[in-house]
Amino acid sequence: MIPNRNATGILVKSPGRINLIGEHIDYNGGYVLPAAINLKVSLKIYKTENTYCTISSKHGGTFGFDIQQPLEISSTHWENYVLGVIDGLLKKRPNQLGGFECSISSELPIGAGISSSAALECGVAKGLNHLFDLNLSDIELIEISRMAEHNYVGNKCGVMDQFAVTMGQNNKLLILNCKSLEYQLIDADFSTFKIVLLNSNVSHNLVSSEYNTRRAECGQALKIIQEQHPNFDFLADVPETIIESLKEKLPGKVYQRALYVSRENARTLKAASLMQEGKIESFGALMYQTHEGLSKYYEVSCPELDFLVGLTLDLPQVVGSRMMGGGFGGCTINLVKEDFVQNLIDMAQMQYKKEFDIELTPILVETSSGVEITNS
Ligand code: GLA
Repeated sequence: MIPNRNATGILVKSPGRINLIGEHIDYNGGYVLPAAINLKVSLKIYKTENTYCTISSKHGGTFGFDIQQPLEISSTHWENYVLGVIDGLLKKRPNQLGGFECSISSELPIGAGISSSAALECGVAKGLNHLFDLNLSDIELIEISRMAEHNYVGNKCGVMDQFAVTMGQNNKLLILNCKSLEYQLIDADFSTFKIVLLNSNVSHNLVSSEYNTRRAECGQALKIIQEQHPNFDFLADVPETIIESLKEKLPGKVYQRALYVSRENARTLKAASLMQEGKIESFGALMYQTHEGLSKYYEVSCPELDFLVGLTLDLPQVVGSRMMGGGFGGCTINLVKEDFVQNLIDMAQMQYKKEFDIELTPILVETSSGVEITNS
């Protein structure tokens, strides 16, 4: 059969992301410090001459729909990342999309907390924007991708993942102000240290429900704070002293969440300065503090992640370690002396297996550029 395609299509390379510090801060309007990475989702997209769209994934199978018919949320989880983006594009640019074929392959492990989902959303968004000349800005595409996750997948995520995946650059970290979306690129210069991700290979099914609960708890904290201090629009802006002064008014867990957010935002700003000054050891010490906060105050860690961070505490060659991303599984991110990387991996794999009877997967990452499009 002759393929029903135009001669030219595009190849989209869309990266995952890491986050050095500033966890669970994006939806609280504070600062985060992510970067795009060199592991990517690849999408080959061709226009067809009709109105039918076919999307196939090496891992997830194939599905299709007519672009002129109303879209529906799918019962197959991953399809909703794509459908949600297309829905957003159609709302902004009615009648401007035609039929296409898209084949997807990925180097990004799913459930590892390195944003395979944002990589897919932003790849589809930027790819179709290019192919169909939709003329949407990067910020519009980021917002469409984020809202796909809210409306089609049900994760009330912040903006960090989609922003880093789209705007990342080689050898750079982004200091992103999640309130204004202003950002600054700083050199990802880790001196003699390497970034090592240790994938716990667990993904506890609390991820989505607990994530949305944390958001709601932060909203509740802000509301109570605003009764006394109506000038604050975002929880990340509220200083620790004010949260302490309202301890009696804030329910126990809500108080803990607010305290974590305020401290983490301050920590992220401090960490960004330390990175710029080349003080990697001091930067790493803040990563440990973040883990402590995520585990004890924000309560989004799990025994596997606590164990992996705990393993590194007495190792002078590891200067920073913490859980990364939404939590309840996925990876820890570690700053490790270059010549100790293999030792850490060997030791961690052995001890993790002994403790949980689960294989640990190391992932060595470099910072990389955001979504890129070439002709295929
Ligand atoms: C997930 C979300 C992000 C962010 C992180 C936690 O990755 O998608 O928006 O909230 O968790 O920092």
